[in-house]
Amino acid sequence: MSIHIEAKSGEIAGSVLLPGDPLRAKFIAETYFENPVLVSRLRGMYCYTGTYQGNQVSVMGSGMGQASLSIYVNELFRDYGVQQVIRVGSCGAIQERIGIKDLILAQGACTNSSMNSLRFRGMDYAPLADFSLLAKTHGLATQRGDRIFVGGVLSTDSFYDADPEVWKLWASYGVLGIEMETAELYTLAAKYGRQALSILTVSDSLVDPSRDALQERETGFTSMAELALGVVTQ
Ligand code: ADE
Repeated sequence: MSIHIEAKSGEIAGSVLLPGDPLRAKFIAETYFENPVLVSRLRGMYCYTGTYQGNQVSVMGSGMGQASLSIYVNELFRDYGVQQVIRVGSCGAIQERIGIKDLILAQGACTNSSMNSLRFRGMDYAPLADFSLLAKTHGLATQRGDRIFVGGVLSTDSFYDADPEVWKLWASYGVLGIEMETAELYTLAAKYGRQALSILTVSDSLVDPSRDALQERETGFTSMAELALGVVTQ
């Protein structure tokens, strides 16, 4: 047991899928795992362990934002010896060519958060995906015929109240989408010497807010979960 996770030692698999929403963790476990066991539910942040095609895997919510994710991922790496985390999340597209339901594999994450500037004493750190996980996921997604984009994302601390002009600046430097967790996930993976990747389904577009996100959201999410499960069991 750690401070925020009540699973016993050995109850969390070496590979963990990490949606932001704990109810999505429950959904993945109940839909795809052969024998899902709820191993932690502290603060409603469900963690399930089971098998997928015979391979042990866990799925856990991270909550929203880097501060929440940081608590759970620190404990997963440090206290449970987790080797591999794949975030399965959503993001807003900031490039015209990227549409709702497309997938973004986050190769790296910029951020406006102070977490890394505090950690690195004002200097910049470049949070990067694990290359082998990225390459494997890209290969599998291509084989499946998914529409995928690989590149940088912005991990923002503010879902609301962001200056509407600011995303255009990031977009002009090639950033593909905006979400709220990846920079901290990649930084912690580097700190602990583990593997991490964020697979993001585009749920909305800042370029064209009229594009209807809601209808497609659920099918996009299941497709991404299947891709991530394919990667951890490859
Ligand atoms: N996650 C999904 N869409 C987002 C957006 N537009 N901004 C930040 N995080 C998001």
